[in-house]
Amino acid sequence: MQQYQKAKDLINRDKDILWHPYSTMPNNMPIFAVESASGSKIKLTDGTQLIDGMASWWCAIHGYNHPSINTAIVSQLQDMSHVMLGGLTHEPAVALAEELIELTPAKLDTVFYSDSGSVAVEVALKMAIQYWAASDKPGKHKFLTIRNGYHGDTFGAMSVCDPVTGMHSLFSGMLAKNLFAPQPRVRFSDEWDESDIYPLRQLLEQHHHEIAAIILEPVVQGAGGMWFYHPQYLKTVREYCNEYNVLLIADEIATGFGRTGRMFACEYAEISPDVMCLGKALTGGYMSFAATLASSEVADGISQQGSMPFMHGPTFMGNPLAATTALANIALLKSWDWETKVLQIQNQMEEELAPCREFTQVVSDVRVLGAIGVVELHEPVDMEFLTQEFVKRGVWIRPFGKLVYIMPPYIIELEELSRLTSAICEILRLLNE
Ligand SMILES: Cc1ncc(COP(=O)(O)O)c(C=O)c1O
Repeated sequence: MQQYQKAKDLINRDKDILWHPYSTMPNNMPIFAVESASGSKIKLTDGTQLIDGMASWWCAIHGYNHPSINTAIVSQLQDMSHVMLGGLTHEPAVALAEELIELTPAKLDTVFYSDSGSVAVEVALKMAIQYWAASDKPGKHKFLTIRNGYHGDTFGAMSVCDPVTGMHSLFSGMLAKNLFAPQPRVRFSDEWDESDIYPLRQLLEQHHHEIAAIILEPVVQGAGGMWFYHPQYLKTVREYCNEYNVLLIADEIATGFGRTGRMFACEYAEISPDVMCLGKALTGGYMSFAATLASSEVADGISQQGSMPFMHGPTFMGNPLAATTALANIALLKSWDWETKVLQIQNQMEEELAPCREFTQVVSDVRVLGAIGVVELHEPVDMEFLTQEFVKRGVWIRPFGKLVYIMPPYIIELEELSRLTSAICEILRLLNE
């Protein structure tokens, strides 16, 4: 009873003063007070245990409160939690840069740190613009992207999000006017059909002289629709970028660090982008941190004699605590056979979510790739109702739009995963009746 009261008090204190993501004030959506989180479980203040189906939005790949990451953070804290990167350097920043260069596809040889995924995208866009400006082609300052993409909530990032599903239509008058090709329609494992990419080629033919870069989420589009498209599309984009003298920015913020079954989704197409954005799972969900990697060609282009230095430098870039956390997270990832586990998660989700296909009144599609399981509905879901129903069943799943999806921590036990999938099947069966 005491715990229940504690949770209620916290939620009441929160209600009038704290903004939540995409919320009104006061927040009119149900929220749940969290006491602690460990492994793949979130413990609510009222004592309820929830199995985590979200990995806190793609991040907590090793679950919460992992002993080896905790130890690394505590040890780094004894040395320093932060120093500025302007004029100073330190072991965690350099070691992480070396590690990221080693881990990512070939050609990505330089690293720019920032605080969040959206800022990593801003940095990538600015790099592309500065690269062309320094190469005497200042007219190349637009971006080409594909519909249903999502790249973040800051202004540059918003300008390359889908104008409809990207959640930013309110700001359209303020945003840079970029170019949008239709969403690729050939699915990840269907037979490739070249016509899927004709519209993008057409846009390149018409506008390449004003395009700085193509930016896209490789293979998996996340928050804009949880869609898995054919790797050949990405491979062909790379070829076109070479042909039309346009840079390629791969936004691996959601897909990076194994989520799709490969360390980076670009690997499915065996391509190297010119610029790559990383965030989310970079620190295993411990803290906000991001990186933008660029090829030496881009770095040299920006830095050539007589040009301005690269015009970005966030206060907390290269934060030692965050860099150490990322290093510990990557060391952990490399220490076990996560690929086999992600494949197991994929196979199990395919099998256990398949019954949802029969709920044809409400379900339009079921798709799974790596540790991402998606059930798409015909109509937008009642998020409030569904979230509460999931919590009643002891699982943390937060649908949005028409999508009920899970992306659990890779360390989830297979019985726990079954609890997630059976909760989804059970609720959708009820909705279908
Ligand atoms: C592909 C992609 N890019 C960028 C972002 C923005 O990252 P952040 O929320 O850390 O700013 C997101 C967030 O969901 C994302 O999925």
